[in-house]
Amino acid sequence: MSDQQVHDEAMTVLAAGTDTVSHTLSWCAYLLARHPAVQRAMQAEMDQVLAGRAPCHADMERLPYTRMVISEVLRLYPAGYLVSRAATTDTTVGSHPIAAGSMLLICYYALQRAPEHFPEPDAFRPERWSPDLTAERGVPTPGYLPFGLGPHGCIGEGFAWTQMTMVLAALLTHWELIPVSPRPVEPVPTFTLTTGTLPMEIRRRHPTPRPRSPAGG
Ligand code: HEM
Repeated sequence: MSDQQVHDEAMTVLAAGTDTVSHTLSWCAYLLARHPAVQRAMQAEMDQVLAGRAPCHADMERLPYTRMVISEVLRLYPAGYLVSRAATTDTTVGSHPIAAGSMLLICYYALQRAPEHFPEPDAFRPERWSPDLTAERGVPTPGYLPFGLGPHGCIGEGFAWTQMTMVLAALLTHWELIPVSPRPVEPVPTFTLTTGTLPMEIRRRHPTPRPRSPAGG
């Protein structure tokens, strides 16, 4: 790669790969603090799988409930909430004619709250993503595109899932998240969708699960 390409690659990872993950983790913290039953269910899964040890990559597939929770957080608060496409030819979207050269903005935040795909769309319901239900609906889930789609879909999706799962597992194994205010947080639409300042009380869990040796990976 030329120096310019190295620079551009580094800037892309910094711009597209840091705020997206950290802000999604803030939304996870926000929703888990407001839904203690979901937080406890996640901790129960972590206690069973990790028993107090640090998570590793092989644990990803052993934490299905955690995946359901993150899927639901990404539905309600997609970090990449607005994407753009340029029409290369004259086309239509539904009944709307689109002229070649038009710039289209697609709002995933609105799309992912469409009631025809997600009943009670504003409710935080990780159960929507239970393997039974998603198998029934078929994949991909209509109206759910937190990482985009097609040639310009997110290249960091796998890396993002790994980071988010590892951070949540490491955090929730030992700590409990408690809201300091009952006031709902309004999303701040910057380059990504942020919580803004998010005061949170963090309390050590008692008893802390006893560590055991890693189960491989
Ligand atoms: C929760 C985390 C993340 C979310 C929600 C997310 C979401 C998205 C979305 C919606 C797009 C636009 C897709 C489209 O236009 O159809 C995108 C593109 C992209 N993402 Fe991510 N992303 C995340 C994490 C990451 C990470 C960790 C990296 C890199 C390390 C990354 C790198 C990129 C790049 C390079 C593109 C542009 C792809 C292209 O235009 O060809 N993303 N992402």
